[in-house]
Parts: sequence; C-alpha cells; structure tokens
Amino acid sequence: MLLLPQTIRPSLESVGFSISPDAGVDCVVVVDEVGEKSSAAIAKLVRARIKIPALRKLDITRILVFLSFLNLQIKIMSIIDSLFQLRRDYTKGKFDETTAHNDPFEQFKLWFQDAMDAGLTEPNAMIVSTVSNDNKPSCRVLLIKKVDSKGFVFFTNYESRKGNEIANSPNGSILFYWDKVERQVRIEGKIEKVTPEESDEYFQTRPYESRLGAWASKQSQELSSRFKLLKEVAILMTKYPVHVPLPPYWGGYRLVPDYFEFWQGRESRLHDRIVYKKENDSWAKKRLYP
Ligand SMILES: Cc1cc2nc3c(=O)[nH]c(=O)nc-3n(C[C@H](O)[C@H](O)[C@H](O)COP(=O)(O)O)c2cc1C
Repeated sequence: MLLLPQTIRPSLESVGFSISPDAGVDCVVVVDEVGEKSSAAIAKLVRARIKIPALRKLDITRILVFLSFLNLQIKIMSIIDSLFQLRRDYTKGKFDETTAHNDPFEQFKLWFQDAMDAGLTEPNAMIVSTVSNDNKPSCRVLLIKKVDSKGFVFFTNYESRKGNEIANSPNGSILFYWDKVERQVRIEGKIEKVTPEESDEYFQTRPYESRLGAWASKQSQELSSRFKLLKEVAILMTKYPVHVPLPPYWGGYRLVPDYFEFWQGRESRLHDRIVYKKENDSWAKKRLYP
C-alpha cells in the first residue's frame, strides 16, 4: 500500500486509471482524512490508498506515466511531512503579570530594547493590518519610526491601498514578531494621520533618493514597467536637485492603542500572554490562556 494525496486522482484518471472504491478494478482507493492537528490547512488533505498490484493490467506507457506522477506526489508528500515536523520549543524567557510594567508603552520599550540587544536585523519591522470597506483585512510589513505617549508612528503613501483602507476605517492592528527572543507584541487601536509638520520633519531625514521615490511612486497602483518608474525618478532629479519637498499624498500615521498583548513563548506551548485593555484613562492588565 502507498499513501498518496487525493489530488493525484484526476491525473491518474486522465491516463486511463479507473479509480473506484470497488475491489477488482485497476485500483482500490480508500479515502480518509489525515488528522494532523498542527496545521488546519494541511489537515484537510485527503489521501488515497492505491493498490500497486493492479498495475499488472497496464501497459508500459501507462506504468511510466504513473511512476512519474508517483515520484512527483511522493516529493510533495515529503515536503508536507517535513512541515508537520517543523517545530521548536520556546525556552528563552518568561513573562508574569506581577512583573509586567503597569504602563504598556513602558513595557513595549523594554521589550523593544531586548529585541535590539538580541541583534535582530530589523526589530522595527512590524505587520500592519487594515480593513477594506467590504470588511476584508489586508496586511503588510512597515517600519515603525516613532513611539511616543500617544502611539506608534509609521510613514507611507496616503493614496496607497492601506491609505484608502484607513480612510475607510480607522481600525488597525500592528504586530511585532521578534524570533530571537521568542516574543510577539500585538497592538490594536485607531489609526490617524500625523500633522504635515511631523511628516516633513521625518521626510527630510530620509536619503535624497528615497525622498524622490516617495514622489515617483503611485504606491499600490499598476506600473507598466520598472523603466517607467526609473524615468520618473530621473525627471524628478532635475526638478528637485537639492531640496525635495514633502509630497502632499505622503506622510505619517499614528496608531493610537486601546489594546496591547505581550506574548512570550514558553516550553510545551504553555506560553505567557499578558494583555492590557484601556479602561477610561487607565490600563487594565490580565493574563490569557496561551
Ligand atoms: C521590511 C519592510 C519594510 C517596509 N517599510 C515600509 C514603510 O515604512 N512604508 C511603506 O509605505 N512601505 C513599506 N514597505 C512596503 C510595504 O510592505 C507595502 O508593500 C507597501 O507599503 C504597499 O502596501 P499597500 O499596497 O498595502 O498599501 C516595507 C516592506 C518591507 C518588507
């Protein structure tokens, strides 16, 4: 008996196999669910059992075609099996509601410093999620550029996909994942624009080419070729040889949080999760099941 994914079925049928649950035909197929609970998506995979002795009835061409499918499917199965095995235990730290800072901003700064000290390449990279007007979420990586007492500031194009989504709904979420310290921080709240002065203050610290890039990029719109973009940058170089002003459609957003979650990976998946919820003007802290 061989274990094969059910996806092979149309391929086998196309080369003349008769696949049926009945005995006495070319193949006997028994369909069952494989319950690998570690991955819901992969768990849906349905496998088929195919009796090889049935191949006796087939001519050599069909056997060769079958074997090439078999080889391909076995390769796919071994990749999937190795994903099932890909796991590690988290043992680098612990996090307790009694020692967690009462102010989540202060707690964030402590963990951010740890992430910097751990030598992560981009500890300031975060995933920012927004929602479309038909309630579809989307996310992308952005760089955090400022954390102050009001919130978390990032810079982008106001007319991009995310810009349009924020204009439609201010609800947003940001997520930091720092693998070397086995931590993630999830922050939720409302996203608002920073002032043009605050945007310009940051914009002028960007390298010259990046400032021109902000002018040249109609972020998230279709671009016919890379050459077109480079040509636009070249034209902008002659227009702004020294000072590059702030584009009117570019600037900062601040996510003003009402929820923080600090996650510390622990052994045997018994992780520590401490959340802070804003209640009036103070933060209520509690632990969640992992
Ligand atoms: C490490 C990294 C950092 C990024 N930083 C920014 C950023 O600070 N601002 C930005 O607009 N896009 C940044 N991007 C690109 C975004 O992920 C995204 O492609 C772009 O903003 C367009 O997103 P949208 O179409 O959802 O609006 C970054 C991408 C990566 C991988």
